Amino acid sequence: MDKIISIKNLTIAFDKNNEVVKNINIDFIRGKTTAIVGESGSGKTLSALSILKLLPTNAVIKNGKIFYKNIDILSLTLKEIEKIRGNKISTIFQEPMTSLNPLHTINKQIEEIIINHNQISSKDAKNKTIELLNEVGLEEISKRHKVYPYELSGGQRQRVMIAMSIANKPDVLIADEPTTALDVTVQTQIIDLLKDLQKKLGMTLIFISHDLSLVKKISDYVFVMKNGKINYYYFFK
Ligand SMILES: Nc1ncnc2c1ncn2[C@@H]1O[C@H](COP(=O)(O)OP(=O)(O)O)[C@@H](O)[C@H]1O
Ligand SMILES: [Mg+2]
Repeated sequence: MDKIISIKNLTIAFDKNNEVVKNINIDFIRGKTTAIVGESGSGKTLSALSILKLLPTNAVIKNGKIFYKNIDILSLTLKEIEKIRGNKISTIFQEPMTSLNPLHTINKQIEEIIINHNQISSKDAKNKTIELLNEVGLEEISKRHKVYPYELSGGQRQRVMIAMSIANKPDVLIADEPTTALDVTVQTQIIDLLKDLQKKLGMTLIFISHDLSLVKKISDYVFVMKNGKINYYYFFK
């Protein structure tokens, strides 16, 4: 099986001795969905953030390596990892409102992401933005020009975040509790959308959740974390 990301013997600590991720190993298989599931505080988010070198500044990686393809992620400079973030490996988080700028239209925010990573005219970026909004099920929104985040429901905001996260056709999407803040019916719609997009774009999905029933719906592989360790794993397929 083709591994796209491998976490090897990763240990993360705060204040030197307070280990919160303890010698974990996970291989993420290309094109598949791998879930990390576990109770709050078990180390899921920190494990995911380390893949993009986005750990809080007081966190220390005591041991381990992370490979994306053949790239030794933890040894990259800031400039090098920035080329990967949001481009090859992209993320969506639980609370879309904190990730969206309330003062800018959503079109502008999506266009910026496209322009930052590509040589593209502003007209093409505008068209691409409309395409993306359609792709994530926001056809209505794509027809209006000035839509601000506060005008959208939680589910619609999460769709905008998903549009941003796939704007540059990433190899890997890390979704950290992407539906936790949403109503159950909306949760299902977002999960279905993520599944569809994954298939269409051939993305590898890393799905983080505390909800095992949700994880079962979407995952090929599941790793269960507890107290910073991987306790066991299931392969559904
Ligand atoms: N900035 C921080 N400083 C100190 N401890 C932290 C910090 N961020 C997270 N932690 C601790 O690390 C542990 C794992 O956190 P996290 O990966 O966010 O858990 P999860 O995503 O599984 O809920 C928790 O005990 C949390 O309190
Ligand atoms: Mg978390």
